[in-house]
Formats: sequence, C-alpha cells, structure tokens
Amino acid sequence: MVKKIAILTSGGDAPGMNAAIRACINAGIAAGKEMYVIYDGYKGLLNREIEKVDREFSHGIAQKGGTIIYSARLPEFAEPAVQDQAVKILRELGIDALIGIGGDGTYKGLRALANKGIRVVGLPGTIDNDIACTEYTIGFMTCLETICDCIDKINDTTSSHHRCEVIEVMGRYCDDLAIFASVASATDVLICPLNHPTDDEVVEMINKKKANGKKKILVVVAEHLLDIKELAKTIETRTGFETRAMALGHIQRGGEPCAFDRVLAARMSVRAIDILCDESIIDGRIVGIKNNLIVDYEINDALAMKRDHSGLLRVVELLNW
Ligand code: F6P
Repeated sequence: MVKKIAILTSGGDAPGMNAAIRACINAGIAAGKEMYVIYDGYKGLLNREIEKVDREFSHGIAQKGGTIIYSARLPEFAEPAVQDQAVKILRELGIDALIGIGGDGTYKGLRALANKGIRVVGLPGTIDNDIACTEYTIGFMTCLETICDCIDKINDTTSSHHRCEVIEVMGRYCDDLAIFASVASATDVLICPLNHPTDDEVVEMINKKKANGKKKILVVVAEHLLDIKELAKTIETRTGFETRAMALGHIQRGGEPCAFDRVLAARMSVRAIDILCDESIIDGRIVGIKNNLIVDYEINDALAMKRDHSGLLRVVELLNW
C-alpha cells in the first residue's frame, strides 16, 4: 500500500501547477497519506531537495502563477544510471509514489521510474496543450487568455496605424494555442503546422483582404515555423501594409491561473490520489479530461495517442476568408 507520495513539477511551468500541488496535498492528506514536495523537478530529486509538507503548505497557493516548487528540464534523466539513482533516493526516504506535473518529457521520466517499481501518476501541466490523451492541459486556458489579451491590445494600435502585425505564439510543435487564439481574437491569417501556408499564399490572402477594404491585418504564427521578421518584410514589400513583428514570448507562461485551470487541476489531482490509493492499479497512469469527464490511461498508451485538430482548422478557414 502506498504510504508516502511526492509531487514534482517538471518542464516549462504552466499556470495552474500550484492549484494542482495544493489539490494533491490536500486530497493526499485527507486519504491518510504522507505528502512530500520535490523542488526543481527531477534535478531536485537527484539533489535530495525533498520536503515533507502539511496542510499549511498548500494555503493560498491555488491562485498563484508559476510553480512554487520550481521546475527544471533535465535531459540526463533519460539515462538508466540517473534513473537508478532517483529510485535509490526515493526508496531511502520510503517514498513509494510520485506525481509528476508536466508534459511528455515528464511522463517519460515517470515511465522509467514506474518500470523500476515506483507507483507514478502524471498530470498534464503545460501551456502547449500538446498532450494527446487530454482535451485540455492545466495552463492552456490561462495562456490562451493572456495571448488574446495581448492580441486585443496589439489590435488597437495596429488599427490606429493601418498596419499589419505578425504575432508569434508559443505551443512548441502543437497548433492549439495558435488556432484557438486566431479564432478567439478574430485574426486575419493563421500560420500553424496544420495549414502552413507559403509566403505567396499569405501575401495573396492579405492582398485579397486589402482589396475587400481591410485596413489592418493581424497574422498569428505558431512558433518554430518561420522567421517572423523575414515574413514581416515580405508582407510589407508585397502588400504595402507597414508591418511589425513580435514574439509574445514568456509572458504567455506567467500570471494567475484562470478559474478553468484551477478547477481542472483540482479534479485531475483528486484522480491522481484516487489512483494511488487503489492497490489494484500497478501501472503508471496519465490523467486527462475527455467529454468533461476525468480519465486516465497507462503511460505508454497515453504517449502513443495522436490529436486531431482538423475540426478547429475548418472553423478558422470558414471565418478567415
Ligand atoms: O512547453 C512550454 C513552452 O513554453 C513552449 O511553448 C516553448 O516552446 C518552450 O516551453 C520554451 O521553453 P523555454 O522556457 O525553455 O525557453
């Protein structure tokens, strides 16, 4: 039976991670477990930055941005010797279960520990919404709100000056932030991995809108696809719109989590504790949400899943002509 559960956050931080930490601690203690936090992700685990926490620790953190137990990326955790060291430390402390809040990289670390006998559960904490086994990740909605707020502000000044603005958003290699932002902020052009129009097509779209009387243009670009400064030059030269380019950057990851993310974090965390209290479950699990129900999957199954966003892209195409 699991007695001691540790929590870590790993990879890029996301709003709502603290709400998940709070919920795991409170639900865990309510279920009679000893709860621990590990600072700085897997790096902190190897450095034994591990602390037993009580109910007091979780007071007032649900609404805070970032992660109060810090986060780190540790590629070395892919090495078996490093994983063995982590298991040794957990065993020495009598910690028999680990909840990892993060994305794919976090889950691969959890899978390695699960294969070595530690009970593990992964919660999807990332702004990118790039976890296929869940419709929404903790942090995505807050990030989307931030992006829309930024685009609305950019829209004001872009309108005032009859300009075009090329706005790069995060998302790693996932389309969701770009697509959702394009729909929510009613932008003119969307460039994301799913549609990836050529420069010629972008210019043609903008010139068509100009011919239809459009006096300012907003272009949303998913990161890693192209050089936004170069695209801005091309647009300016070939459409006549004075064009600026900006990457929204890390502002997208900060800020207080929205209510949706706090509630999602709470619901998923309760499932994580339920899984660890269930002695019949021996495999590592990843929690998600599907059709507004909390679900969980075996880690390998979760990692093998694929997303289908084509429905949303159709919405963009029908609106952005
Ligand atoms: O995974 C979250 C994320 O913010 C991605 O959207 C982005 O590609 C990456 O992390 C940025 O990483 P870093 O903070 O290390 O620059």
